[in-house]
Amino acid sequence: MKELPVPTASLHVFICMNDREEDNPPSCGRRFTLTQFKQLKQWVREHHPDVRITRTFCLGHCTDKGIVVLLQPMQKYFIVDNLEEVKTLITHG
Ligand code: FES
Repeated sequence: MKELPVPTASLHVFICMNDREEDNPPSCGRRFTLTQFKQLKQWVREHHPDVRITRTFCLGHCTDKGIVVLLQPMQKYFIVDNLEEVKTLITHG
């Protein structure tokens, strides 16, 4: 086992893309597609190269109200409606 250094990104954004077949409890993956994720990564590369974006499974706040997003290192959870709101979070925190 070898410990790794802490990544140097100023902000690390985890986006829940978990997709349960039964959607019970509701899962975020049906509201945020892989195409949107790729668009977001491209936008981040162009506008915020110091930010990391990671798609993830359930973040423990399952809801039918939107997509769950975690900002690190602040440890802040948000529910967003769409791609544009993720961009707003990245820009304004
Ligand atoms: S499925 Fe997204 S937070 Fe649980």
